[in-house]
Amino acid sequence: MDVVLTHHHDVLAALHAPEQFSNKVSSHLNVPNGMDGSEHLAYRALIEPFFSAAVLTQFQPKLQVVIDELFDSIASHNIVEISDTIGHQFALQAQCAFMGWPVALEQRLTAWMAAQKAATVAQDRPALHALAAEFSALVIKQLERARHGENDPQSITAKLTQLQLNGEPLSDEYLVSIIRNWTVGELGTIAAAVSSIIEFLAANPVVQKQLRKAPEHIDHAIDELLRIAAPLPSNRRRTTCPVTLGDQHIDSDTLVRIDWRAANRDPQVFDQPEQFQWHRDPSLNLLYGAGIHVCPGKPLAQLELRLFAEALLMRVPHIE
Ligand code: HEM
Repeated sequence: MDVVLTHHHDVLAALHAPEQFSNKVSSHLNVPNGMDGSEHLAYRALIEPFFSAAVLTQFQPKLQVVIDELFDSIASHNIVEISDTIGHQFALQAQCAFMGWPVALEQRLTAWMAAQKAATVAQDRPALHALAAEFSALVIKQLERARHGENDPQSITAKLTQLQLNGEPLSDEYLVSIIRNWTVGELGTIAAAVSSIIEFLAANPVVQKQLRKAPEHIDHAIDELLRIAAPLPSNRRRTTCPVTLGDQHIDSDTLVRIDWRAANRDPQVFDQPEQFQWHRDPSLNLLYGAGIHVCPGKPLAQLELRLFAEALLMRVPHIE
């Protein structure tokens, strides 16, 4: 039977013992999250520079355009549906802008994600297989365009095609896996985060007022509110040997689910865990994980969520 880790200290113990808790949980290629040891290290080192301060400084004006256009499109509405109209739109447009992809691709990805959701709910394996192939074809077309100099040579997609490991370029299969994670893989997480930010500000007028006065605290507030409303429910590991965590014995080769939501609301670590508090120790917050698989996209996610929240507070005088 699968095991679920819900206590903060058990989750931390598992995250910091990757030799006992392997990330090889599926037969599908997942670069770098489904990798262990030196292989993980090598791919991780390749992708980290894509989230450096210099890259994000270049991306910031493009992201601001996405946000301004989104708020322009809802400016005349008094009531706006949050999840699809704002959360998903923003996540998709921001990730496509980051990759340097054309707007037409956003529409195709929207249709692709609707089909993917329907096939997942129906557990329709042939449809999921066909959709995976369709996603690969869409991405490979963008990689080909980049290789032929048909888009901005400075774009993230173009730079990914120039990556090399041991003197060899990365295969399309590996590039598609990396890109799947950065785009459709993260859309749900970013969309959920955006929805939670809006919902939280609407329900907490005091914090809303504080942030309007002191927007420099937005990053801190978002990390704390997303500790309570986890946008990413869980990740998996597989034990490589028998392990004892507290009084729990776990057999070798057991699938283990890390429940981020439960761990980040563990009452043994967070006093009144459901409550937003300004003065918590940020190092205890597991929103972006910990250990060798800690989220490399954190600076990008924080930039996207901060600029979004700044615009929200500036452009929407009353959030209810
Ligand atoms: C609010 C937004 C986000 C949250 C809450 C989040 C959270 C996380 C967490 C908890 C992990 C650790 C998973 C594990 O231990 O198995 C992780 C890993 C990862 N995240 Fe994020 N993430 C976010 C956004 C992003 C973005 C925008 C990107 C890239 C565009 C990204 C790329 C990755 C990658 C590549 C990994 C795997 C790292 C590895 O295995 O070494 N994430 N993320």
